[in-house]
Amino acid sequence: MKDNRLEQLCNAYTDLTVSDIQVLKKVASTLQLYADLSGAYMFIDCKMSHNEHAIIVAEAFPKKIDSLYGNSVVGKIVFDTFEPGVFYSYRTGKKSVIRQAVTQEGKPVEQSVVPIKNDSQEVIGVLIQEKEIDYPDIYQNEPQSLFFGQDAIDYVLGDQRGDMPIISDLLMEICLLTDQDNRLTYANPAGVKFITEMSHNEELLQKNLVELLPFIKPVFDQLDDVFVFELSLENKYLVVKKLRLRKKDKMSGTILVIQDLTELRTKEKELMMKSVVIQEIHHRVKNNLQTVASLLRLQMRNGLPEGSKPYFHDTLNRIYSISSVYEIILANEDADDDVDIVKLTGKICSSMVINDPHKKVELVIQSNGNCILTSSRKAVSIALIVNELVQNSLKHAFPFEASGEIIVDFQASKDSLALHISDNGVGMKKPKSSLGLEIVDNLVVNDLNGEFHYLPEIIGTHAVITFPVSPEVVIYDEKENLNS
Ligand SMILES: Nc1ncnc2c1ncn2[C@@H]1O[C@H](COP(=O)(O)OP(=O)(O)OP(=O)(O)O)[C@@H](O)[C@H]1O
Ligand SMILES: [Mg+2]
Repeated sequence: MKDNRLEQLCNAYTDLTVSDIQVLKKVASTLQLYADLSGAYMFIDCKMSHNEHAIIVAEAFPKKIDSLYGNSVVGKIVFDTFEPGVFYSYRTGKKSVIRQAVTQEGKPVEQSVVPIKNDSQEVIGVLIQEKEIDYPDIYQNEPQSLFFGQDAIDYVLGDQRGDMPIISDLLMEICLLTDQDNRLTYANPAGVKFITEMSHNEELLQKNLVELLPFIKPVFDQLDDVFVFELSLENKYLVVKKLRLRKKDKMSGTILVIQDLTELRTKEKELMMKSVVIQEIHHRVKNNLQTVASLLRLQMRNGLPEGSKPYFHDTLNRIYSISSVYEIILANEDADDDVDIVKLTGKICSSMVINDPHKKVELVIQSNGNCILTSSRKAVSIALIVNELVQNSLKHAFPFEASGEIIVDFQASKDSLALHISDNGVGMKKPKSSLGLEIVDNLVVNDLNGEFHYLPEIIGTHAVITFPVSPEVVIYDEKENLNS
């Protein structure tokens, strides 16, 4: 029956395999023995598949001891913030011991956690032993003060206080403690400042927190022992973590830890605004480039001196290549500046002004399933390089034939990218570099930190550019992404 529950929970909430679940079942079958032998509470927790939390899949309580946990906790969710030991063991695969842990039910315990591994040494769950801590004498004499006021916070935080400020005094987070009637019994300095500011009230001790801060009411209305709320007020954004405390199964108070994320959210908004402004600038750059291109076209239509038309064509192509970069950036869904240069190459080739429209040249772009993203700055250089080399093939490779093929091939390796541009045309006679190849050489060396050369071929011309992968040049294998 218990095994079934373990299996059901693992199947419903985790990514564990059938054989992993068998390993957990084996461990679970011995839990009761361990619990009786050590007089401690035993649990098995497993990481959940769709979030960062864990779930309790098995438990055993020692016989003849008043239960620390009122009812079964199997199926309950465990949060990282409240059970750091559990997540430490998960992350590191090591044992963890926390001498004064407070359980999600608000009970002080000594907690030991060991990872449970499968045959491949992957952590598939953690085995937890929790022993109730005997309270020091002073607390036994004053049970009511156990969790309230300064003594209580000292106890929870394991304080060796004297005249030193306690840990919660040093926290940026707001730490508040209330009694069972929601009256404030402790506030750290950040808490005092926050409540005074929000309530315009300076007398805080023993005041009902819900009356001081009405927006906090939903936090207290929520009956769960542990809860994380996000509260957004008119000009504040807060994350409130609530932990209810119990003494002998009776509600004895609440700890609230409040993070004020207003500044963070404001910065996020500013950043978003900035990215909107940057998008607007890209828009204007693109529009201005298109205006320049229109002016050139107008000039061409109004007549040009004999022989100067090809130069205008070349210039138009160069302007189109740069404006293609901005078109791609503006079409990016996630509003970032990265440019997929395979897509960019497709765009440049399709919008090229071909000098001789009667020629039938096939343009093939290959990337072996890779998506290559570069910064916009590098993309402008790559756009110009692709334009010059493809233009050269179009212009010079097929002077007689009416058809031919140009292949643009991106070959990615772990730390470099090679761009091959080849054609099956007449081949390059003796290289005499003019403006086009000078532009390519300059951009490859100075902007891409790469190399540019021609490979000897029997037929046609084969240019290769290689440049290193860097934070500005990232390669994704789309096939792998699809498979995973
Ligand atoms: N794919 C090719 N096939 C045949 N010849 C080529 C090829 N690429 C370049 N060439 C030769 O190399 C020369 C230099 O190219 P380059 O791009 O520097 O100048 P261009 O294309 O003549 O003029 P522009 O400065 O407008 O680009 C070309 O004039 C041409 O003779
Ligand atoms: Mg050229």
